[in-house]
Amino acid sequence: MSKAGFSHVWIGRVTAGARASVLAMSMVAAEVVIPASEPEAAAQPATAQLGDDLSVVFANSADIAEGKGLAESACVSCHGANGVSTAPGVPHLAGQRSPYLHLVLKAYQSGARPGSTMKSAVAFLNNDALIKLAAYYASLDPAPRATGNVTVSDPVEDGQAAAAACAGCHGDTGISKTAGFPNLIGLDPQYLVAAIKAYKSGQRKNDLMQSMVASVNESVMDKIALFYGLQKPGRAQTPAPGDRSGGQAAATPCAGCHGDDGVSGTSATPSLAGQDAAYLVAALAAYKQGARRDETMKGMVAPLDNATIKNLAAYYAAQEPRPPTVRKPLVAQEWAQRCDRCHGVNGNSTDPRFPALAGQRSDYIEQAVHDYQKGVRKSAEMSAMSQVLSEDDVKNLASYYSRQTPRAVILIAVPSR
Ligand code: HEC
Ligand code: HEC
Ligand code: HEC
Ligand code: HEC
Repeated sequence: MSKAGFSHVWIGRVTAGARASVLAMSMVAAEVVIPASEPEAAAQPATAQLGDDLSVVFANSADIAEGKGLAESACVSCHGANGVSTAPGVPHLAGQRSPYLHLVLKAYQSGARPGSTMKSAVAFLNNDALIKLAAYYASLDPAPRATGNVTVSDPVEDGQAAAAACAGCHGDTGISKTAGFPNLIGLDPQYLVAAIKAYKSGQRKNDLMQSMVASVNESVMDKIALFYGLQKPGRAQTPAPGDRSGGQAAATPCAGCHGDDGVSGTSATPSLAGQDAAYLVAALAAYKQGARRDETMKGMVAPLDNATIKNLAAYYAAQEPRPPTVRKPLVAQEWAQRCDRCHGVNGNSTDPRFPALAGQRSDYIEQAVHDYQKGVRKSAEMSAMSQVLSEDDVKNLASYYSRQTPRAVILIAVPSR
């Protein structure tokens, strides 16, 4: 074992009956190097739980040599020489944590982790052979990290870029300057997305808007709605003729759904505060005539005359819009901090049960996360973590972790006190 390959140390407490001797341990300990330049290295001190299978920690150099022989006959064709894969979908194994590798090999064998390729690759190996293979691959220098910049997309920036096409009519940040064109700020993103879909499908009839959103796919709609949802709201900069106080009186029956001052509390009902008055008039007229179909609103506007509609529009246009409740999604770095709690600083796990992610192939990371999302690959921790990730998050994180510098660890058995 060369010193250079190891930079982290994990110390596992092992129960009485362990076959490590103090002498052997001090010999292993002499090999360990923890560079002072990396104080975070100690940030994830792990103590294996009693009952964890840590037999692989006791593998010696003869075991590793035997593991190498096995690997060369049964695994190199896919996992590459020295555990560095060159095949898409096939993970690097070099420098991976040995207890994790052992656990996974047993899981393939029992079928707990699906994968017919791997199941047949390990079908005829006994536990001793699995231990030796795990110890061998863990002892290797990790694959070099992926090069190039981390390709990270930010949904808010993407939304802003896509919304540039809307700015001419709806204003740069969704505050309209032209009568007849609605504000897009102060609206719940879910409402905005529903409205865009309604134009797209023709359920809401407007030829202009239908052509504007024809090429906007679902992912882009979400980002546009997110962008507008995060902008500081303001009243439309358009005229609002009509009698506000008359409008306020007429607005009493509307408050239950649209809020006391036009700020709706639910995504199903649009906010009206600060909206362009001409658009409000047109929308109410459209409900009345049935050009815009909505049974609730049709019933609400049926008794209203044109003067009252104009007054209602003037009243709502004068109200102060408020930002909808929108959580800014986490960027890759913020996600990574959450992943690092289990996978170690920059994906260099120092807990033997958790795989290192640093330097792993990005295509494999993406595939693994998809498998957890679909439930194909089962893990209590990962199914919870993966459900909340968008497709962009998965790509960003895979790109991020594949570019982190991987570091091997050496595991030392320490007898229980
Ligand atoms: C025919 C190609 C092939 C052969 C041969 C093969 N593997 Fe694999 N291995 C794969 C693929 C593909 C995956 C990813 C499967 C998945 O997503 O679960 C994988 C996954 C693994 C994993 C999981 C790694 C992780 O990070 O979770 C381990 C460990 C592993 N292989 C070890 C071995 C060992 C040891 C051998 C030799 C006994 C071997 N493999 C032989 C193709 C192969
Ligand atoms: C050429 C001018 C124009 C452009 C460009 C334009 N819109 Fe519109 N938009 C309108 C008009 C006019 C309406 C009102 C249509 C109606 O009465 O239903 C509207 C309505 C909307 C509404 C409904 C708002 C509400 O309160 O229900 C949404 C959402 C919307 N547009 C989104 C967009 C998005 C997203 C883009 C860019 C991809 C865009 N628009 C580009 C003119 C435009
Ligand atoms: C029972 C609940 C309810 C009540 C009461 C109600 N609305 Fe609505 N309103 C809605 C819903 C839901 C929509 C969205 C319908 C759609 O998708 O077209 C809507 C849409 C609107 C719109 C279109 C906004 C936009 O951005 O396109 C206007 C304007 C409006 N309502 C005004 C009023 C006025 C004025 C009153 C009172 C006279 C009123 N509403 C009463 C539920 C209600
Ligand atoms: C609560 C602990 C925990 C957190 C937080 C966590 N993971 Fe995991 N992760 C695990 C465990 C445990 C496994 C091994 C599960 C198994 O056996 O399949 C794993 C496995 C993985 C794998 C498969 C690695 C391989 O070599 O096959 C990937 C990829 C992964 N996690 C990515 C992530 C990402 C990305 C995040 C953050 C969004 C994350 N994890 C957060 C515990 C966690």
